Amino acid sequence: MADGCAITGIGSYVPERVLTNADLEKIVDTTDDWITSRTGIRERRMAAEGEHTSTMGIAAARIALERADVDAADLDLIIVATITPDMPFPATACIVQQELGATKAAAFDLEAACTGFLYALEIGRQFIDNAMYQNVLIIGAEKLSSIIDWKDRNTCVLFGDGAGAAVLQHRADSRGVLATRLGSDGGKANILAMPGGGCRQPATINSVNERIHFLKMEGKEVFKNAVNAMTGAAKEVLERSGVGMEDIKCVIPHQANQRIISAVGERLGARNDQVLVNLHKYGNTSAASVAVALDEAVSTGRIERGDLILIIAFGAGLTWGATVLEW
Ligand code: ACO
Repeated sequence: MADGCAITGIGSYVPERVLTNADLEKIVDTTDDWITSRTGIRERRMAAEGEHTSTMGIAAARIALERADVDAADLDLIIVATITPDMPFPATACIVQQELGATKAAAFDLEAACTGFLYALEIGRQFIDNAMYQNVLIIGAEKLSSIIDWKDRNTCVLFGDGAGAAVLQHRADSRGVLATRLGSDGGKANILAMPGGGCRQPATINSVNERIHFLKMEGKEVFKNAVNAMTGAAKEVLERSGVGMEDIKCVIPHQANQRIISAVGERLGARNDQVLVNLHKYGNTSAASVAVALDEAVSTGRIERGDLILIIAFGAGLTWGATVLEW
């Protein structure tokens, strides 16, 4: 049975500047060996002066729109998933809307951390499936370098900047999204958070001195929760869509840590060659992560139209999700 909400164009953008593990050795007390063996990350990209979440998102969006052959003026909705918006308000999606010339589009930001792109995909899909909108642009974009504590070796080695974008449309010849599971657990909000800058602890001289405007993480707790939640969500969507692991051409997991990806892949019975890994090049780009990886899978010919893919994500919130879709 065809006839579903499909991704008709995908694009991504990463900044030019590369920050290697060797570069980090000069900034904090770390080693290339520690970072590589604990995470798999070898380098990440850093936004240049003047590059923001909006500008990176726009660059990715232009590619996705061109590939989908959609004019920005025909977009009905733009969703930007990010934890690093250009500013608290207005929404980064509105800045993107203006720059693209998407004059008739509604626009809003969505905050589900590293699961943001999957949340945006599912929300966008609803609008396409109920025929309210025809052309939806979803973006996952992050300038994590702006909230990283460059004095904290526990976190500063993990993250990078970048953006991915996708155009969602109805396609008569594709099943599109087969099944999605989204989840959250605010009971563990404190294990991965940026405490300062909101209304609870607005920016003051003290808050800056206390370094609460940076990302804080309890790595081990996040690790455990990530493996369990990603595995559970993936199993559920495979079952609900009636698809076995052997039917999946490519698994696209959130690119946070090679050990998390390996543990999840093993529990799902995935072969290594089924699982896309690019975190050695980009680190964890949060909401951009699975979108950038999906673009790589398509651009390198690893997936073709008609292939089934499994996207799995996990992030602060906690939030998590999994989607099976026909490319
Ligand atoms: N270089 C050298 N040593 C380090 C570094 C570093 N960069 N960072 C930490 N260490 C030290 C620690 O201080 C600790 O030393 P100690 O034993 O003397 O106290 C030791 O290394 C071990 O630290 P652990 O925390 O036990 O290391 P672990 O094996 O758990 O790896 C890591 C840490 C990589 C952070 C891991 O826990 C992880 O990947 N967690 C999940 C992160 C994640 O998935 N985030 C996704 C969501 S992100 C989002 O939503 C924005």
